Amino acid sequence: MENEPSASTPVDQETPREVDSGSPVASSEPTPSATASEFEAASNAAAITPVEPAVPVEDSLEPFLEASDTAEVPDPAESTDAPEAADVVESSTEDHAQQSAADTAEVADEADGTEVAEEAEPRVRRPLPRVIAVANQKGGVGKTTSTVNISACLAEQGFRTLLVDLDPQANASTGLGLDPRTLEHSIYHVMLHDVDADSCIEPTEVKNLFVLPSSLDLAGAEIELVPAMSREHRLRLAIESVIDDYDYVLIDCPPSLGLLTVNALAAATEVLVPIQCEYYALEGLGQLMRNVELVKANLNRELEISHIVLVMFDPRTKLAGQVVDEVRGHFGDRVCENVIPRTVRLSEAPSFGQPITTFDSDSRGASAYRSVTLEVIDG
Ligand SMILES: Nc1ncnc2c1ncn2[C@@H]1O[C@H](COP(=O)(O)OP(=O)(O)O)[C@@H](O)[C@H]1O
Ligand SMILES: [Mg+2]
Repeated sequence: MENEPSASTPVDQETPREVDSGSPVASSEPTPSATASEFEAASNAAAITPVEPAVPVEDSLEPFLEASDTAEVPDPAESTDAPEAADVVESSTEDHAQQSAADTAEVADEADGTEVAEEAEPRVRRPLPRVIAVANQKGGVGKTTSTVNISACLAEQGFRTLLVDLDPQANASTGLGLDPRTLEHSIYHVMLHDVDADSCIEPTEVKNLFVLPSSLDLAGAEIELVPAMSREHRLRLAIESVIDDYDYVLIDCPPSLGLLTVNALAAATEVLVPIQCEYYALEGLGQLMRNVELVKANLNRELEISHIVLVMFDPRTKLAGQVVDEVRGHFGDRVCENVIPRTVRLSEAPSFGQPITTFDSDSRGASAYRSVTLEVIDG
């Protein structure tokens, strides 16, 4: 897998990034630079001023993260001194003491019927339909496995669920039993050739679970989208007409932060980030957070990182436990309580074209994904 490290010190081995923190260039994946810089150019100069991350990940995750461009990233100390109201609401559990006053005010606002920040109350069930992008610019970290299996668990719970496969590798499509080569149209045609999304959606063997499949054509989309009108909003516009037919729409993102992922982030209201329980899996997380903030500032004010799911957990390694603690320490209750274990059955299921819930319904993997899904349902 391309994300597997060869050097022993993650801080030093990172590819140096450009000074501009607005760059959505992935640090470990080949992203077409034209695409990345085009997106960057689309952001106006004022907007590209770095948006303060909801959680200052850079300081303590530093050993795991790339050398941070400190000139561009707001000082976490400053952010605790003078937090914006929205930041207060979104900050981690460590800040709860400081939040209480703001929370009280928000509860009062709620009684007045005035606008209330979304996360004022913990784990409020969100209104349906929900659109969740599953993103992490690294490859092989469990995006597709999580998208497929959480979607299947949601369907099992009775929610009509649409999985949008936005990765040209089409692993989610094949993992749910579709053969993209036999399909006339895919998400590529929907996004770039105005084909109606509804006509491309395929049912699966799982009741309530539908797929808007990908195809290899999508590999060229990063480039083809560059001159296109509304290029960052193509996916949002494309699925607008079908969204009301579903309770949940999950988008499996490609392993990059290029225009396809930007489209997913513009179409979603939530981002679910799978994190592998391995040291290097945390690299690039700061970059992902900054990109989510950029999209939020420029394209989609609704967007937030709602869930972090720890995957491929191996209890035999001390490191896995350390990574879990570190991630929880920083992201607080956005990290799902349940972790997904590393199991062979989870890796075998896609070759049978099935999610784990039907492939081996009583397995540890199925049980873990069911538990995580209940946490997602709860908000
Ligand atoms: N919990 C797990 N246990 C064992 N293997 C896993 C687990 N999650 C994912 N895998 C395997 O790891 C590989 C990468 O996972 P995948 O979901 O395709 O990552 P991504 O979509 O981020 O590239 C796949 O071969 C998948 O079957
Ligand atoms: Mg994938």
